[in-house]
Amino acid sequence: MKTKIFCDIAELDKIKKFSKKKIVKGFTTNPSLMRKAGAKDYKSYSKKILKICYNKFVSLEVFADDYFSMKKQALLINTWGKNIYVKIPVVNSKGVFMGKIIKELNNKNIKLNITAVYTAKQTQRILKSINKKSKVIISIFAGRAGDVGKDPVPEIKKSIALSKKFKNVEILWASVREPYNYIQAKQLGCHIITIPPAIIEKIENFGKSFQTLTTGTVRTFLIDSKKSKFKI
Ligand code: G3P
Repeated sequence: MKTKIFCDIAELDKIKKFSKKKIVKGFTTNPSLMRKAGAKDYKSYSKKILKICYNKFVSLEVFADDYFSMKKQALLINTWGKNIYVKIPVVNSKGVFMGKIIKELNNKNIKLNITAVYTAKQTQRILKSINKKSKVIISIFAGRAGDVGKDPVPEIKKSIALSKKFKNVEILWASVREPYNYIQAKQLGCHIITIPPAIIEKIENFGKSFQTLTTGTVRTFLIDSKKSKFKI
């Protein structure tokens, strides 16, 4: 099975560049990335993204924290285009499972990207809340798990196994830390991996031999020691 590459991004100029790449099959973003990119008005900024990415899937996230406002935002975001996955956090900021809203939106056939997932248990709860028709992406935050010394791989593996009977579900490796995560995601059988632009560029250059790496590494040490005029 092929693991699709999405680009995890919010800067409009970079989105323009990466939307032209064949290797990039879709886009994900989140409120933090949008803030960092300088977005002021959520709706108009999202529409700018959608104007560039009209022919690829785009995941746009709700940012409300309670059931009613979250649902309202989700329904609204969904009207902005046919290529949208509405991103719903698996829990709200108080840790309450968003199953009811996931179920309702899924039953309305709204494409969902369930985000901020870390465990196979959460995947199981999500699967219990959805049908077997409407498209759902489950985004597992591998990097952030690794950041705190937790191994995300068994959780992803179990999540993939649990979702096998759901042809409408795709498991996405989110929160990428290094290019090698792409190889890991492929080995595990993730349907999608969402990757920041700089790491996508590194993946495009995969293939250097160990021999080239070893001499290259030593060369940079030599050059730097010369530049610093080191002497012993
Ligand atoms: O796709 C999820 C991503 O946006 C979070 O990544 O690097 O902030 O952990 P990161």
